[in-house]
Amino acid sequence: MDNLFDVAVIGAGPGGYVAAIRCAQLGLNTVCIDDWKNEQGKPSLGGTCLNVGCIPSKALLESSENFERAGHKFAEHGIKVDGLSIDVPAMIARKNKIVKAFTGGIGMLFKKNKVTALHGRGTLQKHDQARDGSDDSWEIQVSADGKEQSVHARHVIIATGSTPCTLKMAPVDGNNVLDNAGALALQQTPGKLAIIGAGVIGLELGSVWRRLGAEVTLLEAQADFLPAADEQVAKEAYKALTRETGLIIHTGVEIKSTRASENGVEIDYVDRDKNAQNLKVDKLIVAVGRVPNTSGLGAEAAGLKLDERGYISVDEFCQTSLQNVYAIGDVVRGPMLAHKASEEGVAVAERIASGRQGAADSSAHVDLGMMPWVIYTAPEIAWVGKTEQTLKAEGVAYKAGQFPFMANGRARALGETTGFVKILADAESDRILGVHMVGPYVSEMIAEAVVAMEFSASSEDLARIVHAHPSLSESLHEAALGVDKRAIHI
Ligand code: FAD
Ligand code: NAI
Repeated sequence: MDNLFDVAVIGAGPGGYVAAIRCAQLGLNTVCIDDWKNEQGKPSLGGTCLNVGCIPSKALLESSENFERAGHKFAEHGIKVDGLSIDVPAMIARKNKIVKAFTGGIGMLFKKNKVTALHGRGTLQKHDQARDGSDDSWEIQVSADGKEQSVHARHVIIATGSTPCTLKMAPVDGNNVLDNAGALALQQTPGKLAIIGAGVIGLELGSVWRRLGAEVTLLEAQADFLPAADEQVAKEAYKALTRETGLIIHTGVEIKSTRASENGVEIDYVDRDKNAQNLKVDKLIVAVGRVPNTSGLGAEAAGLKLDERGYISVDEFCQTSLQNVYAIGDVVRGPMLAHKASEEGVAVAERIASGRQGAADSSAHVDLGMMPWVIYTAPEIAWVGKTEQTLKAEGVAYKAGQFPFMANGRARALGETTGFVKILADAESDRILGVHMVGPYVSEMIAEAVVAMEFSASSEDLARIVHAHPSLSESLHEAALGVDKRAIHI
């Protein structure tokens, strides 16, 4: 069989393309099948993350933050900016250039590592049909633009990602009602923008368009703001995002209906006090979560087990219900994060290469409890490990240390003093159980906390490690000192 591969990866997002490269590095003959097409109708590797997710959103966050700084923050440095304006198409073109460079870069990485890239939709065939007598392999039908071909592989890694949740009462039309892809491609700043969902996408993309001049209203169903974050962090972030950034955030709302027309969108909703409200905006973004993507994968016919929410069922090693078939990233349980998808990809590749099964190779395992979360708003929000409310609910005895950026020299010099770092440590062993941050560049600072926790560090370990002065990381150091009530600068 000339098209028999050791591994077929379905999906080339951060889960799939990383898995494919790692498989190839380990000497496995690997094919990666992906069906993404960009706005020009051309195949584009990198999945959601590179095409319409992490990378383009961070590009726009940076551009809009620069505009915000020039307009509102430069003055206190004595820098005067006259006639400031924003060229939105140029900003979007810069974002598109970054996306093109990155998606094209994956093609080059595939070539370098000798991964075969196939464009098309991969459908898993029944295992019985795949056997050719000598080789125990899976057959995958690949269809693109009306053409069909099949590949065979001894192992399959499914990395088909996720798609946006839809709302019946707010159908996305790509014109005035947008999903994340549309929200990343607007060619002019809307005067008024509403976002259904004050989750991660809502906050990040709402920040982009608010900074560029839109009046942004977020309508959130849950009573609490960012319930997954540490309560104290969520409270501080809410205060900063509403008062300093100017986002309007209504929690506890119920969306009743929306009406889109040429001129904009009208939204009827009931507020948290049960009063009927009507909001008229130019554009509406729907960002109410994402669902696992198994469409066209042939899961049912192949006998692949899904859970009750539509995720592919996997064990802690990403093994599915089918022999030699693994699934990783957004299409399986756990947080929908690019780095989670990639690390699962690496772990599965190493498992396949090692030939080990079950718990025999426990190193090839991703600890979801050590997953860093970052929300790239201003101030940024980042955390790893358990929140204070979770520790309380679990009855764990803990100590807390906290340090505000207001008392940090580097933060003062930057003019970014909102927020704090908080460390939660076990009351008895002092082992760090969670680190929570809101403030400047905490997206970068959280890495130190993850390393510390992965090495089972105590708060005393962090407190005894030298941190450069002046640096934002000193806040982590001081928070660690604070666990034992011996912070110096507060
Ligand atoms: P995906 O990236 O969704 O890739 C799946 C790929 O498989 C796609 O190319 C798809 O077309 C293809 N595919 C699907 N089915 C088939 C099939 N049957 N045959 C062939 N190909 C198929 N995460 C972060 O960690 N940090 C961030 O800053 C961040 N920002 C985000 C911003 C936005 C606006 C969005 C929407 C998401 C963001 N995420 C972020 C989440 C991140 O994008 C996802 O967690 C990540 O992309 C998941 O990777 P994946 O490989 O599992 O799937
Ligand atoms: P989300 O789960 O973060 O937020 C969706 C929000 O919509 C929730 O707060 C939910 O309560 C609310 N909601 C749901 N139905 C609603 C309704 N009918 N009316 C009003 N509100 C409603 O999902 P989001 O923002 O769509 O992002 C999807 C995922 O993508 C994230 O969970 C995250 O995993 C990933 N992502 C990660 C980023 C990062 O790491 N910085 C950035 C953006 C996305």
